[in-house]
Amino acid sequence: MRSSSQRLVTTATAPGKTILFGEHAVVYGRPAIAVPVSGRRARVTVADLPAATGIRLVARDLGKRYAGAGGDADDDGRFLQAALALVLGELGVDSAVLDIEVTVESDIPIARGMGSGAAVSAALMRAVAAHLGVALERERLSALVFTTEKMLHGNPSGIDNTTVVYDQPVWFVHGERPEPLSVPGRLTLLIGDTGVPARTRESVAMVKGRHQETPEVLEGCFDAIGEIVYQAREALSSGALEKLGPLMDQNHALLAAIGVSSPELELLVRAARDAGALGAKLSGGGMGGCMIALVDDRQREAVREALQSSGATQVIPTHVSGEVGGSGLQAGQGCYDAR
Ligand code: PMV
Repeated sequence: MRSSSQRLVTTATAPGKTILFGEHAVVYGRPAIAVPVSGRRARVTVADLPAATGIRLVARDLGKRYAGAGGDADDDGRFLQAALALVLGELGVDSAVLDIEVTVESDIPIARGMGSGAAVSAALMRAVAAHLGVALERERLSALVFTTEKMLHGNPSGIDNTTVVYDQPVWFVHGERPEPLSVPGRLTLLIGDTGVPARTRESVAMVKGRHQETPEVLEGCFDAIGEIVYQAREALSSGALEKLGPLMDQNHALLAAIGVSSPELELLVRAARDAGALGAKLSGGGMGGCMIALVDDRQREAVREALQSSGATQVIPTHVSGEVGGSGLQAGQGCYDAR
């Protein structure tokens, strides 16, 4: 039995993500491949509070606190309140009966195309559900996170929520069941941050405008990107990993052609290639945000240095492998913590 000095504490996490192939074209029905960035995670802890305290939401990195249900909040607070309301609604739990503190932390860069919002939302929903004794099945969780994604991004394809919830490489086609992809061996990516916020909403709107003006040109680019994504899948499944770098370069050229690159992204992509990267491309919505470079162990350090000296505000190394990431629930979940 729990003593009065013990309180139930539940923790859940979700990773950041990066898109390997297929961004933008995925909005128009082509496939995309995205992978989790396992070393960067959102972490949410739910702890019981004394009776009649109500719900507290704490955004630790932002130094902000909010009332759990309704009440005054800025955009960040409204986002957390919405995620909480959605998961409680899904579980049929009345927020008025809960006395909990929900603490959110994350080391995923915000607004860099790394899925920070989706990861926070997924970790929060997973932690709250687990605290109430329910393990949310991943398709259900992904659908809930998609609802909060729409708050942030307007009309997203769903690739972010899928990748962070599945926590493993995914083959994604809008409207179809996502397929976990197995990656033989291990790929090393360096993620270079331009330091400029990604403007996904804007870039998606810009591409939509161009698609309305010259549909045949844009459809041609999307077809070519789709073909690259199929080839990448083939290279991954057959272990022909040396084919991936050139495919990344081609994918980047097509993204630049549809207008979503930026001078900062071009600088980093070129620096990575000149330093020996196997391939490099922008990743995510573009017009800022991050690029990714595929490296092997021999050039890894040179590419990292080249990215830094070309203005990357941070370089995040990540390994991609086919291992299943698991539920993101931490070992201590559901334990009685006597603090
Ligand atoms: O900027 P991100 O990583 O959220 O990626 C956006 C990817 C797009 O294909 C441009 C849009 C989408 O919703 O898929």
